[in-house]
Amino acid sequence: MNYALIGFGGLGKVHFKNMKGLVEAHPDVKLVAICDVTESTFTTNVATNLGEDNSSLDLSAFNLYTDYKEMLDKEDLDFVVAAVPTYLHDVIAIDVMNRGINMFSEKPMAISLEKGKAMLEASEKNNVKLMIGQCLRFWPEYKALKEIIDSGKYGKVIRANFARLSPTPIWGWENWYMDGAKSGGAALDLHVHDVDFVNYAFGKPKAVTSVATNFVCEHDSIITSYEYDDKVVIANGDWTYNGSYPFTPSFTVRFEKATVEMKNGKFVAFTDDGEEELEAPGVDAYLAEMIEFVSCIKEDRISSINPPSDTVVTLEIALAEKKSADLGEKVVL
Ligand SMILES: NC(=O)c1ccc[n+]([C@@H]2O[C@H](COP(=O)([O-])OP(=O)(O)OC[C@H]3O[C@@H](n4cnc5c(N)ncnc54)[C@H](O)[C@@H]3O)[C@@H](O)[C@H]2O)c1
Repeated sequence: MNYALIGFGGLGKVHFKNMKGLVEAHPDVKLVAICDVTESTFTTNVATNLGEDNSSLDLSAFNLYTDYKEMLDKEDLDFVVAAVPTYLHDVIAIDVMNRGINMFSEKPMAISLEKGKAMLEASEKNNVKLMIGQCLRFWPEYKALKEIIDSGKYGKVIRANFARLSPTPIWGWENWYMDGAKSGGAALDLHVHDVDFVNYAFGKPKAVTSVATNFVCEHDSIITSYEYDDKVVIANGDWTYNGSYPFTPSFTVRFEKATVEMKNGKFVAFTDDGEEELEAPGVDAYLAEMIEFVSCIKEDRISSINPPSDTVVTLEIALAEKKSADLGEKVVL
């Protein structure tokens, strides 16, 4: 199975790094080509909030392109992995899928709900697999949390708080992250991870009520209350934690019989009997999602963990949050 990467910036290089693990899991898979409109990105590092150093990569084994259409014309590909700016997700994904090629595209699915739905339709029409990189579904601690929720081990969830605090992403190509029309701001970009997990764990909420700020760009921070009949769920995404503050994802989930928390490198359950360290087995989430995607292609199935129809719902929720913040009122879903 031949594959290619489109977009070789911050996340494209993360997907490149995971090629080794992907080939170990699926030995018949081979990366054959990489495309990026910015030729210099093949030889330079992109310093993201993930702290990677990708300055000296050996790309001599791959065909390099600066035009993805030329690459699609010349290469015989089974799937493509794209990590391009969000406003280009639908255009490139639909082009790829219309050629009968399976598509893995980064999160958020698209810049608008119409575009996200068009991507889903293109995958169905062309009978190809589509997966969006909503990686928390594969992230060991979040995966473990989902299992705890589903098992009922600590009873039902009563309250849940999710947070994702990040420095401002100023590494983007042509500074696209700072343009709300291209990225959707932190509300659609960073925060969509927690939106997706809320959707995965608890289903679509009845309504959302959000407040956002617009200091460094449109919706650079957002706090949302998700309306459910039986629990209180809050999530906070913020791109304004600059200076020496590290990228910090966290959650605190209050169950009937315990509180489960991931914070500052600790993953624990606080029960009536004391503090219990929790296990979070699993491989790197960016690798795990790719392994699942390739398995789905081979087994001709839609992932039950991360189906694209669910990602459309995640996009709908995130966009409703932005609307709620702008209107200053609750938005019913
Ligand atoms: N899953 C995650 O945790 C995670 C983390 C960071 C970013 N992302 C997502 O990954 C995507 C890319 O983000 P990034 O941080 O890598 O951005 P980036 O700006 O670092 O990289 C984007 C790259 O795309 C290239 N590009 C632009 N237009 C292109 C085109 N038409 N054809 C080929 N290449 C093109 C640019 O030259 C650039 O190198 C975004 O959608 C972002 O939201 C996901």
